[in-house]
Amino acid sequence: EKGGHRHFMAKEIAEQPIVLGDALSHYLRGEGMEMPAPGLDFTEFDRMVMVACGTANYACVVAKYWFESLAGISVEVDIASEFRYREPPIPPRTLALFVSQSGETADTLAALRYCEGKAARVVSVVNVSESSIARESDLVLPIRAGAEIGVASTKAFTCQLTVLFLLALMAAHDRGRLDAEELEARIAALRQIPGLMNIAMASSDEIAAVAKSVSEARDVLFLGRGAMFPLAMEGALKLKEISYIHAEGYASGELKHGPIALVDKTVPVIVMAPSDHLFDKTVSNMQEVMARGGKVLLITDVKGARAAGDGCWKTILMPEVDPLLAPILYALPAQLLAYHAAIAKGTDVDQPRNLAKSVTVE
Ligand code: F6R
Repeated sequence: EKGGHRHFMAKEIAEQPIVLGDALSHYLRGEGMEMPAPGLDFTEFDRMVMVACGTANYACVVAKYWFESLAGISVEVDIASEFRYREPPIPPRTLALFVSQSGETADTLAALRYCEGKAARVVSVVNVSESSIARESDLVLPIRAGAEIGVASTKAFTCQLTVLFLLALMAAHDRGRLDAEELEARIAALRQIPGLMNIAMASSDEIAAVAKSVSEARDVLFLGRGAMFPLAMEGALKLKEISYIHAEGYASGELKHGPIALVDKTVPVIVMAPSDHLFDKTVSNMQEVMARGGKVLLITDVKGARAAGDGCWKTILMPEVDPLLAPILYALPAQLLAYHAAIAKGTDVDQPRNLAKSVTVE
C-alpha cells in the first residue's frame, strides 16, 4: 500500500508528478482549458475571500498572489478559526472560496456556513468530494490528489495550488486581463510542472544529506518573497509537524524587522528563491544573514546560484521554472527537507504526535 516506500508521506511526495498530471488532464482536455468552474463568471465579483486552515491556508495565500497579479481582483485570505468569529462583512459581489483536503475541517465548514446567503457564490476546493464542505458549496472543484494518508499534507497542497492556478487563469481571462495567446502560454507553463517535479525529485539524496544537519538545529528560519513567502511558511509548518524542530516562515523583507535577532551559526536559514525580478533583494537578505554567521541553505536555480555568489552554506538546485509557478515546484524540496529531517531524528513521520489528519472539532 505504500508502493515500496517506507512511509505514506514518502509515497505521497513521490507521486506528485503523477497526480498533478492527472489533475491537469482532468481540467485541461485537449489543447484548451475546459474550465474548472462551469457557470462561474469572474466579472460578477468585486473581491474574493479565501478561508482555510493550516497547509490549505498557505495554498490560499499563494493563490492570492496569483489572483491579484493575474486577474486584478482583491483577495482577502484568512484562517478559518479567526474568520468564523470575527463577523467579517461580506459584500454581495464577493466570491467565497474554501480550501480543504478532507472537506471536514470544523472551522472551515463553520466559515463556509457564515458566508452562505451573504456571498454571491460559495466555492470549495476539496480532495474528498463526498465531504460536508463539498456538499454545502454551490460549486466544488476536486483536486483529484487521491487518498492522502500521511498526516502532513503534501500532494494535496500541490494539487490545491494547481487547481487554484487554473482558477486564477480563468478569472484573468473573464476579466479581460489575459488574451487567448497569453492564456495558452500560462497553461503550457503549468503543464511543464509534473516533468520539472520529476527532475526536482532527483535532489532527494542531496536534501537528505543537508536535512541531517538541519535536524540537529533547535530553530530554523524559512525565507521567501512574493508567492514564495507563503511557501516559506508551509516549509516551516512541515518541519515543525514531523520533526518537532521549531521553525518559522518569514517574508525575506521582514527579516530585519525582528527575526534577524535570532540568527547565529546554530540557526539554519532556508531561502527558497527562484531567480526572479526580486532575486537581488533576496541576495541582500542572505548577505545580512551571513554577516551574522547564519548558515544559509539556498534553494534556487542555476541562475540564482550564480547570482548569489559564494558564502552559502549549501545550495540545492531546482530546474528553471516560471517564477509564478515556483511555489508548486519548490514545495517538493520543502517537503523532502522535512521528511528527511524527521527520518534523521527518528520521529513518526506518518503519525506525528498530537496531530490528527482531519480536525473535525474546533
Ligand atoms: C499540515 C496539515 C494541516 C491541514 C489542516 C487543514 O500538514 O495537514 O495543517 O492542512 O488541518 O486540513 P484540511 O485541508 O483537511 O481542511
